[in-house]
Amino acid sequence: MLSAERIMQRCDALARHSELPGGLTRVFLSRENRAANELVLGWMREAGMQASVDAIGNVVGRYEGQQQPCLMLGSHLDTVRDAGRYDGMLGVVSAIECVAALHERRKRLPFAIEVVGFGDEEGVRFATTMLGSRAIAGALDPAVLKTTDAAGVSIEEALRAFGLDPAGMRDVARKKGSVAAYAELHIEQGPVLEAEGLPVGVVTAINGFSRLRVTLQGEAGHAGTVPMNLRRDALAAAAECVLAIERIARADVDLVGTVGRIEARPGAINVIPGEVQFTIDFRAPRDELRMQAVGSARAEVEAIAEKRHVGCRIEMLQELGVAACAPWLMSQLARAVAAEGFPVRKLPSGAGHDGMALKNIADIAMLFVRCKGGISHNPAESITEADAAVGARTLLRFIENFELPA
Ligand code: GLV
Ligand code: MN
Ligand code: MN
Repeated sequence: MLSAERIMQRCDALARHSELPGGLTRVFLSRENRAANELVLGWMREAGMQASVDAIGNVVGRYEGQQQPCLMLGSHLDTVRDAGRYDGMLGVVSAIECVAALHERRKRLPFAIEVVGFGDEEGVRFATTMLGSRAIAGALDPAVLKTTDAAGVSIEEALRAFGLDPAGMRDVARKKGSVAAYAELHIEQGPVLEAEGLPVGVVTAINGFSRLRVTLQGEAGHAGTVPMNLRRDALAAAAECVLAIERIARADVDLVGTVGRIEARPGAINVIPGEVQFTIDFRAPRDELRMQAVGSARAEVEAIAEKRHVGCRIEMLQELGVAACAPWLMSQLARAVAAEGFPVRKLPSGAGHDGMALKNIADIAMLFVRCKGGISHNPAESITEADAAVGARTLLRFIENFELPA
């Protein structure tokens, strides 16, 4: 029997593994990541799966079926800083709950089920996202493993310190055809389902994103002695850039743009900021719209830097195009939603998800579960046990009726 109570308790249990006491921050390959993996491995085994951690740090559980290929389910186990407890975790825990329900009935399906708890989706530690799903999709360039975190530790070093062998990465990549489809349950992270009084919705596509880092190089100096007209203040220049990015993003209702991180150096009250780094994140449901925004932001940032006589370097950190969900999977999910007695609401995802990477090897689908106020990436993230129950029941119905297209 599916237990929504257990789903909620397991999300709570995972939330206790945090870098911050009293909050939730769990980044890739951290001590807390290891503890969360241990919990998930135990739950997977209890649900009748063979489970292990792969060479990139994903927790992978397999429930054998009568034949290949597998239906892959899952979501991520890492979090943003000061996160909510459902973004990612709900999808992993709900998928395990579905397998546990099958196992309890000793029911095997014609296909195997794999549940994956991806190690990195948020990209907080290494500023490059979806390392786990990109590795499974065979889309992770080995050069990426040289990327370092803020402390100068590379992904490769962090994997070794975690007890993993980066050379094993080759075996993580799945062959096209070995995964029949990827389906992810996730909180909506937006307000649409709540506004319409619906517990679940079927995702049509995941918006694309571009993530950039800008470095502005001015000149540090004494805050009391350098006259205003002789300064090259990198933070004042960055302030203009932030407003320009906001203006660009506001020009189209489909576009969003965020400067989520900014750092001024040397960072003292009596020193003119000599260097500033900030990030830009653009999202849109159309790739050309996003690309235009990136072009405009580059031009504006360069113009501001020139006007203020500061140096400027703009790096593209990562870009992923819009990932459409497969119509054949959407209609199977829609049938499951309708069978649970709810109208089928189709909606796009503004947030990024591992399906964007897995699309390289399989068709993808997503089921959204209503969250309170649409709030996410925030400790106030909240769902009801009743909605978790609808989500899990819908997912189980989808799994049990899953069919490959003729
Ligand atoms: C992941 O949550 C993202 O959309 O940034
Ligand atoms: Mn997230
Ligand atoms: Mn997520």
